[in-house]
Amino acid sequence: MELSELKEKAKSVAMNAYAPYSSFRVGSAILTKSGNVYVGCNMENTSYGLTTCAERNAIASAIANEGKIELDQVVVYTPTAQPASPCGVCRQVIYEFCGSDIRIHSCCDTDEVLETTIKQLLPDAFNLDEFKK
Ligand code: THU
Repeated sequence: MELSELKEKAKSVAMNAYAPYSSFRVGSAILTKSGNVYVGCNMENTSYGLTTCAERNAIASAIANEGKIELDQVVVYTPTAQPASPCGVCRQVIYEFCGSDIRIHSCCDTDEVLETTIKQLLPDAFNLDEFKK
């Protein structure tokens, strides 16, 4: 799966975003290790704190379809001039389903692409396993 294909899918799903409060549309396309692609967009709510982000909605869709998942690629698209990085909550959720080497690509309506690893985005991720004996 080419990165450009994932970007196109993320761009396409961003158009379905339910973002009447912020007017900030976000689309995400994720590739799982089993080779399937899932998409998600942000879904806002009149009770603002109930908003869910594109990345988490894409991951929830992957889990609903596959059960146990491992992420291979994460793409985030925003219809903006510069790329947007995943929020803190989404970073922890991405961490839950990936190895430390996973790359996250943020893209936008210019050629600027932000390519990072989950380790860069969340160097001290919370991991309950570290507290278990
Ligand atoms: N948003 C995402 O979908 N993903 C992120 O990583 C950051 C923020 C959404 C949430 C809200 O609907 C809008 O962007 C503005 O914060």
